[in-house]
Amino acid sequence: MSRVYLNGEYLPLGEANINVLDRGFTFGDGVYEVIPVFNRTVFRQQQHMQRLRNSLEAIYMQDPLTSQDWTDIFSTLIESVGTPDQSIYLQITRGISERDHDISLADAPTVFVMSRELQNKNYEQGISAITHEDIRWSYCDIKAITLLPSVILRHRARQMGAREAILIRDDHVTEGAASNVFVIKEDTVYTTPKDNQVLPGVTRDLVLELLEDSGINYQETSISRASLFAADEIWITSSTWEIVPVTRIDDEPVGKG
Ligand code: PDD
Repeated sequence: MSRVYLNGEYLPLGEANINVLDRGFTFGDGVYEVIPVFNRTVFRQQQHMQRLRNSLEAIYMQDPLTSQDWTDIFSTLIESVGTPDQSIYLQITRGISERDHDISLADAPTVFVMSRELQNKNYEQGISAITHEDIRWSYCDIKAITLLPSVILRHRARQMGAREAILIRDDHVTEGAASNVFVIKEDTVYTTPKDNQVLPGVTRDLVLELLEDSGINYQETSISRASLFAADEIWITSSTWEIVPVTRIDDEPVGKG
């Protein structure tokens, strides 16, 4: 039977409870990772764990576990799930304290990990996206659990019959609400460079490696709104969606549709 990990214990999901004064609950004070598992093998674990450590450092925390601890937790959880392709979700919060912004009051970090069946059915049909002003903050390179803007953006996309919102800041594309964006024009693939305005996607980096290995031209460069609308193809990437074509944007076909 599938179990989840919470602060050193393996429990049924329904028995995994946290204190209401956990700073993840009161402040959204924490970070997370989503890591795909293919055929019961964790995909790019090292890259995901490095990004986790970067996120922790950026919020003045340290990894509370060793690499071996993480590997053991992942193996135990993956074993307990029926399907070979899964998605690991892990979250670390600053732990419990009275409700005060001061981080020095926090107790030990809260560590929660679960693995679930990976569901991805988008590869062939593609998805519709809307464009939207990037309403998020200035530290988008931190994988913070504080996701209210992304939740609102995905809701607005859904209200328009679309699956993703492609975000525009200063007339340029940053990324998707929960994905990185690639634009293809003629023989070149473009994606935005890694900076504080985008999450450094592990899937994004893999796509660039594959382009490099295949001898396909690519550029990490700023993409204007106009170039997005003039694209021959648009792809978005994430750990749960892998690579998905965007076939309509703001209700117009992308390229030849
Ligand atoms: N999100 N950009 C944002 C804002 C994201 O939230 C994600 C992934 C990505 C893609 O990163 P990666 O390829 O490493 O998954 C880019 C996850 C899947 C989520 O929040 O569920």
